Amino acid sequence: MTSMTVTAGPFAGQKPGTSGLRKKTAQFRAPHYLECFVQAIFEAIDAPGKVLVLGGDGRFFGREAAAVILRMAAANGVARVILGQGGLLSTPAASHLIRLNGADGGIILSASHNPGGETGDFGVKYNIANGGPAPEAVTAAIHAASETLTGYRISDAPAPDLDRLGETLLDGMVVQVVDPVLDYAELMERLFDFPAIARMIAGGFTLRFDAMCAVTGPYAVEILERRLGAAPGSVVNAVPLPDFGGMHPDPNPTWASDLYERMMSPEGPDFGAASDGDGDRNMVLGRGIYVTPSDSLAVLAAHAHLAPGYSGGIKGIARSMPTSTAADRVAEALGIEAHETPTGWKFFGTLLDAGRATICGEESFGTGSDHVREKDGLWAVLLWLNILAATGQGVDALLAAHWRRFGRVFYSRHDYEALPVAQAEAVMAELRGQLDSLPGRSAGGLRIVAADDFAYADPVDGSVTTGQGLRVLFEGGARFVLRLSGTGTEGATLRLYLEWPCNDPDQFETETRTMLAPVIAAAEALAGIARHTGRTEPDVIT
Ligand code: G6P
Ligand code: ZN
Repeated sequence: MTSMTVTAGPFAGQKPGTSGLRKKTAQFRAPHYLECFVQAIFEAIDAPGKVLVLGGDGRFFGREAAAVILRMAAANGVARVILGQGGLLSTPAASHLIRLNGADGGIILSASHNPGGETGDFGVKYNIANGGPAPEAVTAAIHAASETLTGYRISDAPAPDLDRLGETLLDGMVVQVVDPVLDYAELMERLFDFPAIARMIAGGFTLRFDAMCAVTGPYAVEILERRLGAAPGSVVNAVPLPDFGGMHPDPNPTWASDLYERMMSPEGPDFGAASDGDGDRNMVLGRGIYVTPSDSLAVLAAHAHLAPGYSGGIKGIARSMPTSTAADRVAEALGIEAHETPTGWKFFGTLLDAGRATICGEESFGTGSDHVREKDGLWAVLLWLNILAATGQGVDALLAAHWRRFGRVFYSRHDYEALPVAQAEAVMAELRGQLDSLPGRSAGGLRIVAADDFAYADPVDGSVTTGQGLRVLFEGGARFVLRLSGTGTEGATLRLYLEWPCNDPDQFETETRTMLAPVIAAAEALAGIARHTGRTEPDVIT
């Protein structure tokens, strides 16, 4: 067999965002579009001789894309591709396989929590040898290559059967098709006390895991039902479908409303959780109680030592800047490092590699640890279950005890979606323009003590990242943050993150919106969201 070079490209705009290149599926299916971006990856990483992991969340176009990438990898001299059977791999499982096999990197086919299907979104993300998302230097090199290439290489040979386990040769390149679940399930079994969780479940503890017709179904069925003994059917929407069954696979109260409502009912199970398209996000609920991602991070960090994988204690906690400061309180109490990074899991990589953080989390429903280099939805679920089993407490009692010990940081995120880009930028510009003059002034009855555009200097590699979100801090620790989403594919999404710390236990049961009212008013007064956009209510509140 031979390979050919197809003259095509370059395409403008092949610039990886917060998490890889994410576009409408139709854009990726346009002639040569996927191929040119993949060629840019291969050029940026110097593909000859490399070992790569390949898989994705099962969304529409994933199988075709995997077949094309295999043929291109062969033509570009890649030595071996380790492929999840059927082209399936959750993002954390892909990260684990890269590490387990000492691979040079991996390509993940997913648009994460964005809807899939012909009219939905698709994405391609490159991860590096530590198993984590490519850092800025690598994504910049991919982007640069995408701007100058004049074609791509692809093998004439057909791709092998994606479903048949084992090794085959494609134009001299080894294609190794592996079970997507097995290695990951074994890793989880090493980290957590499966017998204790199984005993809790056998003792009548009930749970519901909503896989949202996305990639975690097979993982959750194997781990929660087969290995831990949850009743068959505890995992719902368990079969990955190309269009996610029409669902928007984003585990938050809005998009996982079915689970949310069941958990709010007195007849609900003891524990509920959902994951997103590619399995890296999670939402956790108890009966009658929703755990914010920021609180979840703090609770997991405070109790991680109860799980065998973390019994020696944790070395540090990292959170993205817009994530609440609840985790900082835990780090302080434990006497360990706390890090505040820009939004995007890739910023945790250096801290994890350097052993300066063990547990990381983001308000965007992401939590994870140094077991892989991605956030990990099922990992978070299992750590929660391990903690519940070890303490014998329910989610509500555990959270209440956590707040009593550390105080409660009331927190919410308001999203304004699909805004005309100019309107969203006007809101940002209005606030940005005032930042320097804000300290000392008041807004919404609150006194401002600091305001800036967040910049981050990585303490490990020294790299500096600027323009990561506007933050306004008030006396007493309340704050709001305003930033534009880096993952949307339609117009602009404005995110307003609101936070109000409270140490008075008598106020812990107050409605979040009530506690946040002054800081919501302050944000409106300073940024004028309603004035610029005409929107008086956010589209999504998490
Ligand atoms: C992806 C990344 C996360 C990040 C999130 C933020 O899920 O993996 O690390 O927190 O996007 O998205 P945003 O839309 O707020 O830029
Ligand atoms: Zn995801």
